[in-house]
Amino acid sequence: MDKDKLPVMLFAIISLLMPAALSATDPLLNFCSADVRNSQFESNLERLLESLSSNTSIAGGFYNDTVGDGLDIVYGQALCRWDVNSTVCQNCVDEARQEIFKSCNKTDAMIWYELCQVRYSYQMFFQLMVYTGKYLDKDSQEKNVSNPHHFNDVLTYLMINLSGAAAFSPSKRMFATGKIKFSGKDTIYGLQQCTRDISPSDCHSCLNSALTDLLGCCSSQQGGTIVSRNCNVRFELFPFFNDTSNSLLIYPQSKADRWKKWKVVILVSASIILLAAIVFCTVHLWRKKGSEDVKDEEKSEQVLLQDLPSPTGVTITEEGMFIISEELAFMDLATIKIATNDFSDLNKLGQGGFGTVYKGLLPDGKEVAVKRLSKKSWQGLEEFKTEVVTIAKLQHKNLVRLLACSFEGEEKLLLYEFMPNKSLDVFIFDLERRAELNWKIYYNIIEGIARGLLYLHEDSRLKIIHRDLKPSNVLLDHEMVAKISDFGMARIFCDSQNTANTKRVVGTLSLLLTAPIFIFRTC
Ligand SMILES: *[C@@H]1O[C@H](CO)[C@@H](O)[C@H](O)[C@H]1NC(C)=O
Ligand SMILES: *[C@@H]1O[C@H](CO)[C@@H](O)[C@H](O)[C@H]1NC(C)=O
Ligand SMILES: *[C@@H]1O[C@H](CO)[C@@H](O)[C@H](O)[C@H]1NC(C)=O
Ligand SMILES: *[C@@H]1O[C@H](CO)[C@@H](O)[C@H](O)[C@H]1NC(C)=O
Ligand SMILES: *[C@@H]1O[C@H](CO)[C@@H](O)[C@H](O)[C@H]1NC(C)=O
Ligand SMILES: *[C@@H]1O[C@H](CO)[C@@H](O)[C@H](O)[C@H]1NC(C)=O
Ligand SMILES: *[C@@H]1O[C@H](CO)[C@@H](O)[C@H](O)[C@H]1NC(C)=O
Repeated sequence: MDKDKLPVMLFAIISLLMPAALSATDPLLNFCSADVRNSQFESNLERLLESLSSNTSIAGGFYNDTVGDGLDIVYGQALCRWDVNSTVCQNCVDEARQEIFKSCNKTDAMIWYELCQVRYSYQMFFQLMVYTGKYLDKDSQEKNVSNPHHFNDVLTYLMINLSGAAAFSPSKRMFATGKIKFSGKDTIYGLQQCTRDISPSDCHSCLNSALTDLLGCCSSQQGGTIVSRNCNVRFELFPFFNDTSNSLLIYPQSKADRWKKWKVVILVSASIILLAAIVFCTVHLWRKKGSEDVKDEEKSEQVLLQDLPSPTGVTITEEGMFIISEELAFMDLATIKIATNDFSDLNKLGQGGFGTVYKGLLPDGKEVAVKRLSKKSWQGLEEFKTEVVTIAKLQHKNLVRLLACSFEGEEKLLLYEFMPNKSLDVFIFDLERRAELNWKIYYNIIEGIARGLLYLHEDSRLKIIHRDLKPSNVLLDHEMVAKISDFGMARIFCDSQNTANTKRVVGTLSLLLTAPIFIFRTC
């Protein structure tokens, strides 16, 4: 093996044990576990390793074999890097065969070299993907790059492109290399490979896990390697693979440009929200003050309500009872008590203006948020129920969905879809969690809030004004999609007769995303 052509790699365990004996043929890492092998297993293993060593290079750099049976069966697999020729592959597997046999006497082991990897086990592992990523401590990792943020972006761009190419290339090689221009003179070289027994989607998910680890450990350093059982990824600032293509990826946009674009988008959308809020507020105030007969207005709103088709399946009988429907179910109090552990403090998600919210687990396994209304509604029960059905009809991607309700005696409960990411305030008022949000997520959240409000104000025919929009009322689902909650509550709880109260607009200035957003509270 030509030592000059191969970069010397150092690794934690071996380098500590025998720093003087380093050569290009040292293993990167090894793994050795399970029981100590018996003599029958050992003789099977010898035959297996022999087979791997003589057949892998002939088979095109990937080979698996099984020797023995019963308790002493041995499964084995060897993989060479795609870009090395058969001589190099043969030598590497041969080296690995000797090393793995001598350095480990257990029944499950794996060894990684720069150019090949060999694994054996008493358990069948072919076609199974298990991510076990380990990163290697190397010289290059002690050297930092000069512009880590930009480096991280460019590296991510290259590696994501390569993971797609490696996993889904029609050649079924499960191997990809590439390079991308970084700053003036630097080029980043990347390599990714999977064992060829797993499916393309398993390969892709293995590589994605490895990339997450790689960016975590090494994204501001001049090189990094993650090895796992089924895949490995590596990048360096020098060519370390047999580079046969001349294509050089170009990073599409500089970060400064992107930031400028986001800034414009954020400012424009914030201004639109602000303007819309002011317009609606002004119109609302003017209407309340200017019109003599508020009664008439309400009458017309009632007419509007009656015009609406009743939601499919929901019927309000003369007694005001709900019939279970697809859109809004009526649930009995006992079921909700079980779901929330009798409103246990452990299930408490938060305390809102209109009541306490609990997490509930329904008998069918569905997670819900249960709002236990504490405030007394100014309306009678019938009007209250009508309002709830009305609110349930408001369905939009950016509104929290009301799933069911329950009324028994003084107890009034509303069941909403459960939001695993809680609310916006949890993120923006906490330094650590704020770091989890990037500008794309911020933009999506702002857009979601704007769409939700637009629907409430313009498209829903009911023209609901939220009156209490604040970060804690913007919930986030598992994909960080913003969903407005507590809309329509003012209709239930704010006494529209109490004009003195409705006229008072309290504006709270909140520093969200560096752009001011006004919050109006009227009840
Ligand atoms: C693999 O190698 C062994 C020798 O170690 C040989 O007997 C066997 O026939 C080879 N198998 C294939 C499929 O080439
Ligand atoms: C090699 O692995 C494949 C599955 O990936 C399996 O079908 C085949 O039997 C294995 N070959 C040997 C010799 O064990
Ligand atoms: C590099 O790849 C080319 C084409 O695949 C091959 O001809 C050449 O021998 C390889 N060089 C090395 C050093 O493996
Ligand atoms: C294989 O590649 C090595 C260097 O990587 C080279 O020295 C050797 O001549 C090549 N062998 C063949 C058969 O191409
Ligand atoms: C092999 O196992 C024995 C215990 O049975 C242990 O003492 C010995 O150190 C092991 N050898 C190696 C190379 O791991
Ligand atoms: C590289 O950066 C890390 C933190 O990012 C720092 O701890 C380390 O000392 C730096 N190393 C060098 C050689 O500058
Ligand atoms: C990688 O980038 C190249 C060049 O931009 C492009 O042609 C190719 O489709 C990309 N591959 C993947 C998997 O994204």
